[in-house]
Amino acid sequence: MREHLEHPIFSIISEEADQLQQPCFVIGGFVRDLILRRNSKDIDVVTLGSGIELAKRVAKRLGPKTPVSVFKNFGTAMIKSADWEVEFVGARKESYTHDSRKPIVEDGTLEDDQKRRDFTINALAIGLNKDNFGELVDPFNGVADLENKIIRTPLEPGITFSDDPLRMMRAIRFATQLNFKIEENTLQAITDFRERIAIISGERVIEELNKIILSDKPSIGFKLLDKTGLLPLIFPELSNMKGVEERSGIAHKDNFYHTLEVLDRIVPNTNNLWLRWSALLHDIAKPRTKRFVPGIGWTFHAHNHVGEKMIPKLFRRMKLPMNEKMKYIQKMVSLHMRPIVLSEEEVTDSAVRRLLFEAGDDIDDLMTLCEADITSKNEGKVKRYMKNFRLVREKLKDLEERDHIRNFQPPVSGEEIMGTFGLSPCREVGLIKNAIKEAILEGEIHNNHDEAYRFMLKTASEMGLTPVQS
Ligand code: CTP
Repeated sequence: MREHLEHPIFSIISEEADQLQQPCFVIGGFVRDLILRRNSKDIDVVTLGSGIELAKRVAKRLGPKTPVSVFKNFGTAMIKSADWEVEFVGARKESYTHDSRKPIVEDGTLEDDQKRRDFTINALAIGLNKDNFGELVDPFNGVADLENKIIRTPLEPGITFSDDPLRMMRAIRFATQLNFKIEENTLQAITDFRERIAIISGERVIEELNKIILSDKPSIGFKLLDKTGLLPLIFPELSNMKGVEERSGIAHKDNFYHTLEVLDRIVPNTNNLWLRWSALLHDIAKPRTKRFVPGIGWTFHAHNHVGEKMIPKLFRRMKLPMNEKMKYIQKMVSLHMRPIVLSEEEVTDSAVRRLLFEAGDDIDDLMTLCEADITSKNEGKVKRYMKNFRLVREKLKDLEERDHIRNFQPPVSGEEIMGTFGLSPCREVGLIKNAIKEAILEGEIHNNHDEAYRFMLKTASEMGLTPVQS
């Protein structure tokens, strides 16, 4: 492992630890990622003795101005530079969780420290002192688990998960990110201990969920959340989408699996977390709006609008940000069927203009979502949709160049209407403004001041208004 510790920071830590005569190791995620050849900037260093003292000495060596953040209660200290971050901690007997509120009470050996970590692959350590520099310390066969792609707790899983129930989510998150299998006993323990997730804050749960959503194949994680029974506890709306009902020999598709397919399909086309969330939520109101209409079959009438309305409550409960990100997702959910409907019919200019008007700058994201939503197994159907989408995209480009609808600003302002006809704010002003907008969207006039002004005069005259003399 020596060759991987070439960065000068490791030799500085090594020398200072030797001076203090403190055994010292780099440990956890950094070692895991090093073996997996993944880039990692977070370096965790554990020492038998004071982590704070060691950090202070290392900082001094790095230059008199290097700041050290000390968290006395937790016995940890951190040094940050532009391209890495090192956290120093004294080896401990109790569970190692980042934001455990419990102060550190008892020092431990290296093995005590390793066994209270979450998974064997995260419990690997590499010696940093001169006499063991670069030597791997792997008491729980973490390297073998890395090779065999296995997530397993170092101790009996019930103990590890009781120490910090968030680890159940972390197991699923790592399985998803790394495409690893969760070992049988570990997986069973997640099922058995799932109710304990209730003591974990929504923010921590969401952090893991977001990492699952940002991975290359998020469906792996959601299927595991479902299999272990965690899903209904943390995300009942999504869990409710599971299942197929059949009546008079007609079945609808399983909306849970459809949603996961849409999410996986959108991954190669966007790294935007919120667009991925939109994929996850686009059909969220289907269970609520489901009806069986004899002669027609299953319908999910207005599920886009009901879904849009469900989102604020869901965001509040799940501790997701209730800001413009939420509004963006609401917009995506509410508009997600429009390009499909549009491409089913003849693609008219006015329909495309209206879509552009409502989606604004998010139109490309909306198209990306819609394309991911086409999961039919019928190749002919998929081809037809994709062809129509291409047509919609072309028309969108074409119309935008001509009419600039994307960020529509009324070409004649309310003030100008009021000034022209000597009006104070009233219903008529709104009616005229709306008539101008409609005329543009319908393609009756172009989106410019001259044509809009003439149209305003005509509309106002039909309403019995005459311009005041200036
Ligand atoms: N750890 C743990 N239990 C937790 C959180 C963390 O045992 N609930 C330990 C693990 O040894 C982990 C290390 O603390 O490797 C660092 O945790 P963290 O920085 O949260 O995660 P990483 O494993 O580094 O992975 P990532 O950066 O992908 O979150």
